Amino acid sequence: MTAPTVETHLSEADLTAALRSDAERGLTAEPKSLPPKWFYDARGSELFERITELPEYYPTRTERALLERVVGEIARAAHAEVLVELGAGSAAKTRLLLTALTSEGPLKTYVPQDVSSGALRDAADRVAAEFPTLAVHGVVSDFTDTLQNLPRGGRRMIAFLGGTIGNLIPAERAEFLAGIHDVLEPGERLLLGAGLVIAPDILVPAYDDAAGVTAEFNRNVLHVLNSRLDADFAPDKFDHVARWDPDHEWIEMRLAATEDMTVHVRALDLTVEFARGEQMLTEISAKFRVEGLRAELGAAGFETERVWTDKDDRFALVLAGRL
Ligand SMILES: C[S@@+](CC[C@H](N)C(=O)[O-])C[C@H]1O[C@@H](n2cnc3c(N)ncnc32)[C@H](O)[C@@H]1O
Repeated sequence: MTAPTVETHLSEADLTAALRSDAERGLTAEPKSLPPKWFYDARGSELFERITELPEYYPTRTERALLERVVGEIARAAHAEVLVELGAGSAAKTRLLLTALTSEGPLKTYVPQDVSSGALRDAADRVAAEFPTLAVHGVVSDFTDTLQNLPRGGRRMIAFLGGTIGNLIPAERAEFLAGIHDVLEPGERLLLGAGLVIAPDILVPAYDDAAGVTAEFNRNVLHVLNSRLDADFAPDKFDHVARWDPDHEWIEMRLAATEDMTVHVRALDLTVEFARGEQMLTEISAKFRVEGLRAELGAAGFETERVWTDKDDRFALVLAGRL
C-alpha cells in the first residue's frame, strides 16, 4: 500500500475567514441564515455518520442498495481511470464503487474531496488500506469555489453522492454543475446521487429523528460559531425544526430560539438579538424529479446517459457525460 497524500486548499485561517464572512452576512440578514457546510467540523462529521444509521434516515441505505445493484453497470459505462468524489465524508458507500471500478474497469486513482479535513484524512487512510493497488489523493477544499484545484489527467468520473446536491439552491446548483462541466473533458462523467420527491410523512422524520441526533447535528453549527468565532450561543436554547416546503420541494432545517436572547460574536465584534420563536435557516435539502435533474444537467452541458432509481422511487443515481 502507498500512503495516501492529502492536499489542502483550506487552511484553518481560510476557514475562519470564510466563516467570519458567512456569519456576518447570515446573522445580520432578515431572516437569519447560515450555509450548511458549517455543520461539518470533526464532531459534525461524526454526527452525520450517526444520522446515516438512523432508522428514519432512508437516503443512505437506499442509495447504498441502489449502488449495490448497479455498480457493475456504472463501472462498465464509465471506464474511469480516476474517481473524484466531492463531499466524500467517510466514503463508506464509495467502497462499492471502488470495488467495481477496479475489478470491472481500469481505476487507478481515487481523489476524495471534502471541507472536513479530519473526516477526509480518515477516509483516505481507510480506503488506501482496503485498496492497496489504488493511489489515494485527498483534497481538502470547498466544492463551491475550488473545483479548478481538482487533479487533471486520466479518464475521470466525478461522483457527488448522498443527495448533497440538494443543499444548494437552484442558482447555486446551476453554477456548481457548470463548474463541474468546466473542469471535465468531453466524454468524462458525473455520477450524481439525488433524493427524489416523496411523501412528507417519510421525508420529514428523516430530518427529525426520534433520538434527536439530527437536532444535535443542526445545533452543531452554533458550537462551531462558539469555538471558531468566540461566540456565546447557548445551543440548548435552540429547538431543531424540520419542515417540508411543498412549493420549493425542499426540506428546511432551522434553529428556533426558545427565549429572547442576546448573543455576542466576539471575533466579529457583533451583537445579535434573537426574539423568542425566531427561526434561523441552517440547511435546505432539495428533492428532485428525474425530468428536473435531466434538465438541470442538460443546461450545464451534460447528457444524461442512465438513471437508476430504487423500487420506491426515493432516490436516483444519474450517470451523465460531459458534452
Ligand atoms: C450530506 S454529507 C454526504 C457525505 C457522503 N458523500 C455520503 O454520501 O454519505 C455532505 C458531505 O459534504 C461535505 N461538504 C458540505 N459542504 C461542503 C463544501 N462546501 N465543500 C466541500 N465539502 C462539503 C461535508 O463535510 C460532508 O462530508
